Amino acid sequence: MTYEELMQKAIEVSENSYSPYSKFPVGACLLTDKGNTYVGCNFENGSLGMTICAERNAIGNAIANGERQIKAIAIYSPKQDNCTPCGACRQVLHEFCKSDDELDIIVKVGDNLKTYTLAELLPESFTL
Ligand code: THU
Repeated sequence: MTYEELMQKAIEVSENSYSPYSKFPVGACLLTDKGNTYVGCNFENGSLGMTICAERNAIGNAIANGERQIKAIAIYSPKQDNCTPCGACRQVLHEFCKSDDELDIIVKVGDNLKTYTLAELLPESFTL
């Protein structure tokens, strides 16, 4: 599974986003250590604080399928280049990786992909 293929799945699932309030669709597709992929999109609620991000939807899907280790996640919004995960999702990603510098976060910038490690986006992360 290439990062281009992961991004293609993130783009496709962003079309299922339920985002009538923000009008900001997001899709995510993650790759686990077992080589499996899981997608998620954001879904909002009239009680706005109950919104679930695309990344956490994909992570929940992976966890429910018995996965525990994420190797990479592609994130896409048609509304924004370089759509990196929010702070809450960075912390949740931290919970489910071997180490922060072994988890790649892939975003789109124009026609190109840009890759960060979680360590770059979440320095000095908290572990209980
Ligand atoms: N959102 C995500 O799904 N992922 C992110 O990384 C940033 C924000 C969603 C939440 C909300 O539905 C909309 O984008 C605007 O914040």
